Amino acid sequence: MSGQPWDIAAVRAHFDFPERGRIVTNNAASTQPPRELTELYRSLAPGYENVHRGQSSASQAMTRLFEDAHDTVARFLNAPGRRCVALYRNTTEAINAVMYSLLTEFRDGDNVVTTTLEHNSNFVPWYALCRDLLPRFGRRVEYRLARFDPDTGELDLAHLASLIDARTKLVCCTGASNFLGTRPPLAAVRALADASGYAQPNGEERSYLLVDGAQLVPGTFTDVQALGADYLAFSFHKLLAPFGVGVLCAREHLLESSLPFLYGGDMIAEGRVSADRVEYGPLPWKYAAGTPNILGAVVSAQALRLLLDLAQTPERATYFQTERPIEPETVRSAMNRVAAWNRELTARALDRLAALPGLTVYGPRDPARRTSLVAFNVAGHDPHDLARALNEAGVESRAGCHCAALAHRALGLTASCRLSFALYNTPEEVDYAVDVLGRVIAGRRRPRGEPAARSVTPHPQQIGSPS
Ligand code: ALA
Repeated sequence: MSGQPWDIAAVRAHFDFPERGRIVTNNAASTQPPRELTELYRSLAPGYENVHRGQSSASQAMTRLFEDAHDTVARFLNAPGRRCVALYRNTTEAINAVMYSLLTEFRDGDNVVTTTLEHNSNFVPWYALCRDLLPRFGRRVEYRLARFDPDTGELDLAHLASLIDARTKLVCCTGASNFLGTRPPLAAVRALADASGYAQPNGEERSYLLVDGAQLVPGTFTDVQALGADYLAFSFHKLLAPFGVGVLCAREHLLESSLPFLYGGDMIAEGRVSADRVEYGPLPWKYAAGTPNILGAVVSAQALRLLLDLAQTPERATYFQTERPIEPETVRSAMNRVAAWNRELTARALDRLAALPGLTVYGPRDPARRTSLVAFNVAGHDPHDLARALNEAGVESRAGCHCAALAHRALGLTASCRLSFALYNTPEEVDYAVDVLGRVIAGRRRPRGEPAARSVTPHPQQIGSPS
């Protein structure tokens, strides 16, 4: 299957947004939902009931679907099982959950190392821990920021290595920057964390590794065991399923030994609550206090099955809403196809943008070294004006600092304009967006009333062999 053409028309046929004439190139912020997922959400509603909280057939059935959703997430990530999967609202909440779970473990003099490539969600929680929370308990813990090369956008591994020491409890690193597109070498980061010699309370001598997978997981085969991440966080709203669910996939023994993030109903051991003693429940429910986003979780897990189909058999459901087991090799080959298509779109954007006068692209030049987005500025143009001009021509982009405030500051910027691609974008959309920018730079706008070009690619596109 890996050599088959990417049938972009068949992929797009699963989505409603193209019928509105939308050119969606703000996918790093959120992706579009396929029709099957909104229909599944609706079809589940008549049978909705709470989970773990009722004896009705409806509650039992919903509980099974909800619990199975955890299995599906675990299979997709090649995690050992559902006990490793805690569901939250989004990546930010999942990273905060790690921060609060570890909060009491930090010792005076410890540090957390993160990078200036991070989204605010993988910096601000660590800032808050070190500057706002722990000082109130009289503990001094510092955060350290590894820099990146301003010319190439690559993480400075030597600098990272110099920051990690025997007091580094945790290393936090993005899997892919949402501004520069950089994909840090996580195996090297893992090796540095492993070699720190930090004495964890459970006797391990290494730093934990947290990977922000928000921009990684939607477009890259991610095997948590191969990655060696202790914590991996990502959001489903960037992965076809905007239903309010994010994932924390963590090593079982860490979830077992850590304190929960939220306390209350369903996270307690059945019958083990009394006035003077509370026992917490088994994994992963220990991390699921309160009624969860049940339908969101069920539909989001099905998004993973649908993604396998879109990548390999877009004309028919092979995995979606079936019991078919998900094997790592299937996920690898499907996600490699997604990655190859994304790379083709990104390479095209990089090539064509390079020809525009005054335009500076940030991050690695090699599309194989970056994720599927391109952020840029144009001399003499406010990036927000560029985004507005693109929007007037029907192209949805994003201008701002994309919550990557540290990286923008490091480059002396306050904002950039960004195009970000997903599996349903077409090469023609990339060309059209670049043509619009070209006209804006040349001082020409599309005359008012002239329709924006629209872009369903009629024929399947051949993609190179996925790596
Ligand atoms: N982090 C998201 C973005 O990059 C919201 O746009």
